[in-house]
Order: sequence, then C-alpha cells, then structure tokens
Amino acid sequence: MTHIFLYGPSGAGKSTVGEILARNLNLPFTDSDHILENIAGMSIPQIMEERGEAKLRELESTALRQIVNAKVGVVALGGGALLRDENRALVENSGKVVLLLAELPSLVERLQKDAHKRPLLAGDLELRLTRYLEKRAEHYASFPLKVQVDGKSIDQIVHQIQIVLGRHHLSAMGEYDVIVQENGLQCLGEMLQPRGLQNPVVVTDNVIAPLHLEKVLSSLQSSGFQPKSIVLPAGEGYKNLESVARLWKSFLENGLDRKSTVIAFGGGVIGDLTGFAAATYMRGTDWVAVPTTLLSMVDASLGGKTGFDLPEGKNLIGAFHPPKLVLADPSLLLTLSERELRSGMAEVVKHGIISDPELFVLCSRGLDWVKANLEEIVRRAMAVKIKIIEEDPYERGFRAALNLGHTVGHAVELVSGFELTHGEAIAIGMVVEAKYAGRIGLAQKGLSETIAQTLQKLRLPVQIPTTLPREEILRAMRVDKKKDSKVIRFALPMEIGKVELLEVSDLESVLE
Ligand SMILES: NC(=O)c1ccc[n+]([C@@H]2O[C@H](COP(=O)([O-])OP(=O)(O)OC[C@H]3O[C@@H](n4cnc5c(N)ncnc54)[C@H](O)[C@@H]3O)[C@@H](O)[C@H]2O)c1
Repeated sequence: MTHIFLYGPSGAGKSTVGEILARNLNLPFTDSDHILENIAGMSIPQIMEERGEAKLRELESTALRQIVNAKVGVVALGGGALLRDENRALVENSGKVVLLLAELPSLVERLQKDAHKRPLLAGDLELRLTRYLEKRAEHYASFPLKVQVDGKSIDQIVHQIQIVLGRHHLSAMGEYDVIVQENGLQCLGEMLQPRGLQNPVVVTDNVIAPLHLEKVLSSLQSSGFQPKSIVLPAGEGYKNLESVARLWKSFLENGLDRKSTVIAFGGGVIGDLTGFAAATYMRGTDWVAVPTTLLSMVDASLGGKTGFDLPEGKNLIGAFHPPKLVLADPSLLLTLSERELRSGMAEVVKHGIISDPELFVLCSRGLDWVKANLEEIVRRAMAVKIKIIEEDPYERGFRAALNLGHTVGHAVELVSGFELTHGEAIAIGMVVEAKYAGRIGLAQKGLSETIAQTLQKLRLPVQIPTTLPREEILRAMRVDKKKDSKVIRFALPMEIGKVELLEVSDLESVLE
C-alpha cells in the first residue's frame, strides 16, 4: 500500500478533492502546506515575505520527508512541491502522483476568492497565473497520471482519480479494498499484512497452477508466510458440490481455522467455489480474490456473490460473502486464450453501455487495441461494477442493470449446449435486447447497430445462430431461475451510458 499524492497548479482543487478521495478510500488525509506551516510556525505568505522562496522550498522538503514516513494516506501537495528533483524522487518512491489539470478560466475563478493566501500569484491574477502555468507547463506535463477537472463535480473528479489509480474501498456489503495493479501479484504478501490476514491457503485450478501459482507462493513467502495450495480441476463442469466438499476437506487437512485466509486465485469458477467454501467453512473464513480472467476481474470478483451449480441449473446454491481484498493484476491476462479474453470483453462492453460511454468508445477501437491496453480496460470496467454494487449491493434495484443482455444470453448459452461461451452468448443477447428496445421506441435510433459494430470489432458474435431453435430459447428464458414465468424483467439499453429496467410479458416479441 502506497501514498497517493495530488499535485497540480494552485486552484485545481487538490485539498477539497483530496479530503473526499481519502474518505472514499478509508485513508487519512494530509495537506502538505499545513504540515509545512506547522514546522515553520508561520503561514506560507509570511514565510515568503520574511524568509523568501528558497526557504519555502527547503521547508517543503522537510515537510515531505515527514509525510512519506507517516501512515499511508492521501496527500494534497503545494503547487510547486515537486519542482526540486529530490522532492520528486522522494514522493515518487513512496506512492503515486496524480496531477489535477484545469484550464486558466476555471483556475482564475477559483483563486479570485482567496488570492491573498497565494503569494506567488499576488497582483494581476490572470496575468500572473498565465505566466505561472507557462513556467510550469513542462514540469506538470512530465507526470504520467493526469485528471482534467474542468466542468466536473467533485464526485466526478474523485471517481476519475480512483479509475486512474485503480483504487477503491467498498463498504456497502463488508469493508474491503479493490486494487488494480499491473504486476500487483508481486505485492500480494505485503497487502495481506496490514489487513490482518493470516495463514494463507491458495486455491487455484490445474490450468492456472503451472502458469502462475509459483509467483503467488513466492510473493507470500517473501512476506514471511508459509502458504499452502490446493489445485482443483479447471472448468465450469467442476463448479459443483464435490469441489466445495473437496475444499472443505483440504481446509481441514491443512489446519485452517477461522483466522486463516483463503485466496481464490483463478477465474469466476475458482472465485465462486472458493468464496462459497470460505463462507461456509467454520461459519465463515476470510478470503481474498485474485481474479485471473478478464470476466472475473470486471465482474465475478466484485459484489460478494459466491456459489456453485447443481445438475438442475447454474448458480442455484450460493451465499453473499464478500472478500477482504480484491487484487486484479492485468498482466495475468497475457496467458489467457483469445476466446476467453473476447468472452470477457462482452461484459466490458456491457459495463460501457450501462454507464461509461468512454469505456464503450475504447472497446470500439477493436481487439488489438484492447490487448495492448488491458490495464486501462480493467480499471474502467471494474469501476462501473463497483459503483453499481455500492449503490445496490443486494440487487433490490439498479444492480439488475448488470443483467443487460443476460436474459436472452443465458438462454442462448444453454440452448447452444454451452458451445457458445458465456461472453459470446451475452454479446448476442445484448444485440437482440437492444433491437427489441429499438422496436418498442425505448432505444435511440441506430443503437443496436452501434452495439453490434463494437462487438464485431472485438470478434464477438451478434446474431442467434440459425441452428438454435427459437422455441427452445423462449422456453429457456421462461424457466431461468430468476424469473417469474409470466413477466420477465429486462435491463434494456436506451443509449450508450443509459439503461432502463422494464417488465416484459410478451417474450416472443423480444426475439422477433
Ligand atoms: N460471482 C459473480 O458475481 C459472478 C459473476 C459473473 C460470472 N460468475 C461465474 O464465473 C464463471 C465464469 O468465469 P470465467 O469466465 O473466469 O471462467 P473460468 O473460471 O472457468 O476460467 C476460464 C478458463 O480460463 C482458464 N484461466 C483462468 N485464468 C487464466 C490465465 N490467466 N491464463 C490462462 N488460463 C486461465 C481457467 O483455467 C479456465 O479453463 C461462471 O461460473 C459464472 O457463473 C460469477
């Protein structure tokens, strides 16, 4: 866990945004200018007037050294705090810096109110600010993580920062952090310690184990743990009671008690099975999700749903049991088969349609772009689901929007005899449902075509295969466990970024 530093010109909102960001992430907040003033025993304008800018910069270095050695948190930095190379190195070695950028007019507007507190801008504010921004343009441009603040509310800015950082703290169902970090697997051990998570046992499957298990174990070992591992056979066919029983038995054999931690290291199957076994073992054990497929990163690892299949149907037995930490390391996706990656992209596109038009645009750049930018895709798509499950953790309302494409999709998946992957079926489902939304006048003109084009660029299917009997799909839609036989609640797209929940009784009209 590292510090988060907010940096940028005076007036960009670092302190206001920093306080809310810290609250969202359940971290302490520090304003570096306050620390500096405490050390000096006088205000910044006084330091400037009585001791000059060189002394101010010196005090800034002292304040920063104090901050980086204190408890990890969110820090708002003074507008020139990182001009000195030594300060920049100190800060960048102990955390991530996010630059808040704003256009001149919005800075002038904000700064006019308290210009007296900013000695470097005294005099003609607009002129001074223009020169100040010109002088620092190259310096500010050299920071890789940036968020533009103009025209956004504080909450929107904070949300953008969280996406850029890949950092969230969930509290609607259990309290836990979600971290997206390239090569984050190497830090897993050090992430467990501050959370009081002990005695880890890693559960994975026999496809992932030869590829990645060693990395998990050595990360845990380097933090002083002596981890054990359990390897299950891979695939949906093993998401059953026998596998859960096998986990319970292995937990006992490995001496797990209620204070132990189970780490689910795998796709949605391993996550659902391990989470359920942890929910029920000794009436509840801590678990950590380390998802390894795109689908499990952007969907299955978030929201606390765990469970397994019965011969009668998928996910019929389950429990809500949120993990204590979710760590998504996009570098793990490099070994995923292209078909699994494409399948996960259907859920990513779904998240874009539900509430992130920018994510949808990124998806429409096609599969090659996506493959080269997986971290950005994962960060944005996880943020969509997190926002929804935080607002409606137990699916009493809008969480049902996540079922977009799934009513038709599940039925198509089932009738194909699982020849189509889940994602391929959901891609078809989204287009069929968008066409229906268009026919009943709910969706914007051309929406289903826009969705279909994006899915095709990701090499996903968009039409129900002619070999699948329509009657069987209708029957499958009716018997899906979540639905009443007469009326089915659909999540239908209205435009990119907006969906509506609608009860439909005439199912035949959906498939027209
Ligand atoms: N709990 C939830 O909220 C939720 C939400 C959506 C889906 N799900 C469940 O998730 C499951 C599907 O998850 P999935 O698509 O991840 O399937 P999966 O777990 O079966 O993984 C797919 C395949 O990819 C392999 N694999 C995983 N990571 C790999 C990697 N990094 N490199 C190479 N191969 C790798 C696996 O061994 C497996 O063979 C379903 O059972 C579904 O019901 C749960």
